[in-house]
Amino acid sequence: MQTSDMDYLTVALPKGKLFSLSAELFAKIGYTAEGLSDQSRKLIITNEEKKIRFIVSKTADVPTYVEYGAADIGVIGKDVLMESGKDVYELLDLGFGKCHLMMAVHKPERRPKLTDYAHTRVATKFPHIAEQFFNEHGMQMEYIKLNGSIELGPIVGLSESIVDIVETGTTLRENNLEEIAYIMDATARLIANRVSFKLKFDRIHAMVEDLRQILESEAKA
Ligand code: PRP
Repeated sequence: MQTSDMDYLTVALPKGKLFSLSAELFAKIGYTAEGLSDQSRKLIITNEEKKIRFIVSKTADVPTYVEYGAADIGVIGKDVLMESGKDVYELLDLGFGKCHLMMAVHKPERRPKLTDYAHTRVATKFPHIAEQFFNEHGMQMEYIKLNGSIELGPIVGLSESIVDIVETGTTLRENNLEEIAYIMDATARLIANRVSFKLKFDRIHAMVEDLRQILESEAKA
C-alpha cells in the first residue's frame, strides 16, 4: 500500500444487481462521489473533499481487490465471497441482495432422489460451493464452470443439473427447471482488507457504525 493511499478510503462496488443498492446505502452516510455509476467508463471515481475513492468492478473481482488491498472496503454477495475463498474480514451483513443457492434440474428428466444425480454433470458459476455441498452428500460430480445463463445447461443437454442462485424464481419457472436441493442463503456483505482494517481502523469503524445505524433504523421502519 502506498503512503498516499493512507489519506483515502477506497471502496470497491460490484457492477450489476448490487450496485445501486450499495451506492444508495453509502450515500446515506455521506459517502458519495459525483458521477458514480456502474455504467460509467470511468472506473475510479473520487470524492476529494471526503477522501473517498470508489472502484467499480466486475462482481466476482471485488474480493480480489479487497484481499490484495487495492481496495480497503468492498460490497459483495455472500455467495460470491464464499466461492472466492478470499482472506478478508466480513464486517457487516447489509441485508439486501437476498437470494439462495440451490440445485435445480430440468423437470421432464427429474430423477426421484438427490443421490440419483451422483456422477452426473452439474453446470455452475460456483464450483467450490457446489463441490462442498455434493461432498457432504457423498456424491462425486463432474463440474462444468459457466459464467452466466447457467439455466441453459440442462435444457441444451450440457449438464443434468445446475447449482445457481435464485431470487424470485422467475428464471427457473421460465425454463421449466425445478429446485431439488437448498444449499445456502446469501445477502450482500461489507468486507475489508485485513491490513487496511488495522491501519485505518478509526475511519472504517466509524463507517461501519454509521452503516449499522442506518440499517437498524430501516429495519425498524
Ligand atoms: C442470476 C442467476 C439466475 C437469476 C435468478 O443471474 O444466475 O439466472 O439471477 O434470478 P431469479 O430467481 O429472480 O430469476 P444474473 O441475472 O445475475 O445473470 P447471469 O445469468 O448472467 O449470471
